[in-house]
Amino acid sequence: MEGAKGREGNEAADGQSFSASTAALFHGAKGVFGNCRPVSTYEKLGRIGQGAYGTVYEAIDKETKRPVALKRVILHNEKQDGFPLTSLREVALLKRIAHSNCVALLDVAVGRNRDGVFLVFEYCEHDLAHLLETVRRPFSVSEVKTVMQQLLRAVAYLHDNWIIHRDLKMSNLLYTNRGQLKLADFGLARTYGYPPRPMTPTVVTLWYRAPELLLGCESYTTAIDTWAAGCVLGELVRGEPLLPGKTPVDQLSLTCALLGTPTERIWPGMEALPALRGGTMTVPQGHQYNTLASRLPELSRAGAALLDALLTYDPAKRHTAREALAHAFFAEHPLPKEEVLMPTFPAVHAQPSAARGSGGGGGAGRRGGGWADLDRDAVSAAKKPRR
Ligand SMILES: Nc1ncnc2c1ncn2[C@@H]1O[C@H](COP(=O)(O)OP(=O)(O)O)[C@@H](O)[C@H]1O
Ligand SMILES: [Mg+2]
Repeated sequence: MEGAKGREGNEAADGQSFSASTAALFHGAKGVFGNCRPVSTYEKLGRIGQGAYGTVYEAIDKETKRPVALKRVILHNEKQDGFPLTSLREVALLKRIAHSNCVALLDVAVGRNRDGVFLVFEYCEHDLAHLLETVRRPFSVSEVKTVMQQLLRAVAYLHDNWIIHRDLKMSNLLYTNRGQLKLADFGLARTYGYPPRPMTPTVVTLWYRAPELLLGCESYTTAIDTWAAGCVLGELVRGEPLLPGKTPVDQLSLTCALLGTPTERIWPGMEALPALRGGTMTVPQGHQYNTLASRLPELSRAGAALLDALLTYDPAKRHTAREALAHAFFAEHPLPKEEVLMPTFPAVHAQPSAARGSGGGGGAGRRGGGWADLDRDAVSAAKKPRR
């Protein structure tokens, strides 16, 4: 599976670093985040995630004893003391976001020599990718409804605030033992405005990538997030990814096999999209029918209708997150389960990463240790593709 990050192509600023000193941005009096605490105020417990832009550690706030997750910002060129714009964008967005279904940024902490910068988040026991690797179908239909409501509320909130997440997928959906879903990883998120500016279409991990992105659209909308939410719904119900393409061409083929071949009639403007106009891709022909209902017999008629509404080819006709929240699927029996009754699962973060299958990069079982040895942690640890 192709990762979307680091391939920001035509968004000139991405991947570049600020030449201003990291220390000036984050340390002392009023930096970007105000007063930053030294990272030594947190006790490191172990590594819980290895992502494209940073290693994530489980830690405890020594003062409050509150568990936290620390995401280390990878400084591309630490010698120049530059701070990656992607991380700065993530911090700037996270500071604006306050929603119970979006992970809360609590602090930005700095290392002793000011060479390490850490985003400090509220701690969540699970991410849905690991959970689905451990328990194939962790949620019943009524629980899936609650998880989807929580996700759609987070997405609706972002869209109301002119933010597109651009990387909705299982490993970016955290789940707490209090039955709450928390949308995380705002590394690719960005604000948009009107009139829209062109944006790179190489966003969203392949399996969750909307067809307009596959076809090279640069004027995409919040509808790319609701497509990904549809893929999440299908995956929760099936217990396996809905559209696990290996390449963009394969992704488009799988999409057409599931939903039928799109035409200019059902998706006006499709033929003008860069990949079709330029002939770099063709739409696979011959898939006459939408096979969603038969491929997902677990879903009721209303459930299949909601999935169909989220996986609508034409982004203009695709359900918005708010429309999806008002869908009959959530009003029919079995009703969404109350949060307090949602299931809890054994902690996976405490297990050695090898047992977790992916993402850990080899250090999750190693407890303790100071923050000073982090440079020796392999930031480029080999990663299995993540959902
Ligand atoms: N607040 C958190 N609580 C618990 N685990 C987290 C938290 N934030 C991230 N993680 C873990 O770390 C992984 C990588 O974090 P993420 O923010 O998605 O970074 P990346 O941009 O590198 O993918 C997540 O998939 C999850 O397993
Ligand atoms: Mg991530």
